[in-house]
Amino acid sequence: MKIVASYSVKGGVGKTTAAVNLAWSASREHRTLLWDLDPQGGATYLLQVKPRVRGDAHDLVRGTADLADVVRSTADKRLDVIPAHDSYRVLDLELDATKRPERQLAKMLASLAKRYDVVILDCPPGMSLLSESILTAADVVVVPLLPSPLSMRSLDQVTAMVAAMKRRRPTIVGFLSMVDRRKTIHRDLAERLPRESANVLPVVVPASAMVERMGVERAPIATFAPRSVPALAYGALWAGVSAALSR
Ligand SMILES: Nc1ncnc2c1ncn2[C@@H]1O[C@H](COP(=O)(O)OP(=O)(O)OP(=O)(O)O)[C@@H](O)[C@H]1O
Ligand SMILES: [Mg+2]
Repeated sequence: MKIVASYSVKGGVGKTTAAVNLAWSASREHRTLLWDLDPQGGATYLLQVKPRVRGDAHDLVRGTADLADVVRSTADKRLDVIPAHDSYRVLDLELDATKRPERQLAKMLASLAKRYDVVILDCPPGMSLLSESILTAADVVVVPLLPSPLSMRSLDQVTAMVAAMKRRRPTIVGFLSMVDRRKTIHRDLAERLPRESANVLPVVVPASAMVERMGVERAPIATFAPRSVPALAYGALWAGVSAALSR
């Protein structure tokens, strides 16, 4: 079972959008689960899954509830979801109360290893014990980068966090998110970043009303606009992630 985290220290950069579209692509060829780790529940909403009542952060972390018991199916039979839960606001505190917080998420996910080939984690923004536990569990960390000079900083922050890890380190895969080709700085950075950083794929997701429509359709973009530029870009992103997973 391979674990892919959609993560950034920064908020609002396209993590949830990427997680949902990557999960859809992955599920075309693999048994796939998306775990919505953000109490905001964006991915849960986009995949039309009801928020969960049972199995709060405390029970899951302590092992009195099993992750397998809180899995829901989606409208698409090939894709399952663990919906968000309000209690994920205190996931950090729950992890902190365990012996090895940084390894706890990987431990919890181990019970799903026989059921799924790919697990996509939609992560809340920030830098916390939860992020540490996510990075430790992940094989690949997908980092959406806005085309601004500050975005390199957010990639550097993830790189530094990964470099500080003692054991297994995930592969970092950056891509450009919300690029507006009418802006010179966006065009420049979209070309430069993949050239200058080995961790950034030459995948550019344009800023597009079609992506925003996901919130109305409540579905991955490939299901309602399969030949649109952003849908093809997310397909290319999955191809890049998939290649990184098999390395
Ligand atoms: N390529 C795009 N073009 C236009 N709008 C986009 C694009 N990608 C994402 N958005 C919109 O930007 C907003 C933020 O995206 P998203 O929720 O994926 O970011 P996030 O990083 O998960 O945010 P958070 O840190 O709050 O979890 C959403 O309203 C989404 O629809
Ligand atoms: Mg999000």
